[in-house]
Amino acid sequence: MNELLERIVADCAPSASLGHVATYIPELANVDPNKLGIYVSSEDGKQYFAGDHLEPFTMQSVVKPLILLQALMDSGEDAVRTLVGVEATGKPFDAFNYSDQALNSANINPMINTGAIALCTLIHGETYEEKFSRLLDLARKLSDNPELNVDHAVYVSEKKTGNKNRALGYMLTAYGMITDPVEEILDCYFRACSISVNCRDLARIAHIFANHGIHPETQEQMFPAAYAKYVNATLATCGMYDGSGEFALTVGFPAKSGVGGGIMGVIPHRMGIGVFAPALDKHGNSVAGVQALAKLSQILDLSIY
Ligand code: DON
Repeated sequence: MNELLERIVADCAPSASLGHVATYIPELANVDPNKLGIYVSSEDGKQYFAGDHLEPFTMQSVVKPLILLQALMDSGEDAVRTLVGVEATGKPFDAFNYSDQALNSANINPMINTGAIALCTLIHGETYEEKFSRLLDLARKLSDNPELNVDHAVYVSEKKTGNKNRALGYMLTAYGMITDPVEEILDCYFRACSISVNCRDLARIAHIFANHGIHPETQEQMFPAAYAKYVNATLATCGMYDGSGEFALTVGFPAKSGVGGGIMGVIPHRMGIGVFAPALDKHGNSVAGVQALAKLSQILDLSIY
């Protein structure tokens, strides 16, 4: 398996030239676009990896499934469903124009910025610092990595320049969907996006989602199986933004991408995969990462469809 992963890394690395690293968060522009790493946490309990699998990068939107999970655990499914819908928007992750009508829960989902920002309000905690700290704890627990922390430079960079997210936050306020101070909610959201991980961390988190919330080694139920189903279903339909349909055809399993170049792949009952390659396509998905997942899916027959 390690040889297979090495081959995939060698084959897919050149396709980085077809994409571009994110620059709208200035700090993200400093990464080497040619990195490619992959890590598989597999059903036989074995761990396989190749390339730059230990290279750190920020989660960015890959944290959205964790925001959704924490909101589900803290406030329950009804509150989550009432605030944020589940239909794909067919629009970019930071789009404003949801429809001609007023913004409402039916036309947002947890995997786009508006949905994730709204869901931060359903995480328990007296302050947004406390809410973020619960989220970071969850990421540490699910990845088996107590060292996970915020990349401070990326956090500061995004906080300074994240005016589109501010606009989305104020739009949620304008339509009465949230009432907490936008700047505090966004601070939690920006910190969450700036959690620094590697491919292993993503694969370990994904493996628990693949395993119905059960830790593959300790067999501990980390969160209810019903929430794993909820999160995996939204990943399958909305996880790769307006590239989700194409991804379903060419790769075929629930996944979440981030503009840091990471993708977390969940193969129910089988394995978790983490990939990292920072050059992105027009949807904000890693070019070489998607290609590597497509190859792996074909060879190991990982499509769930
Ligand atoms: O809110 C933002 O714009 C970023 N922190 C996250 C966006 C993102 O990762 C979109 N993913 N492909």
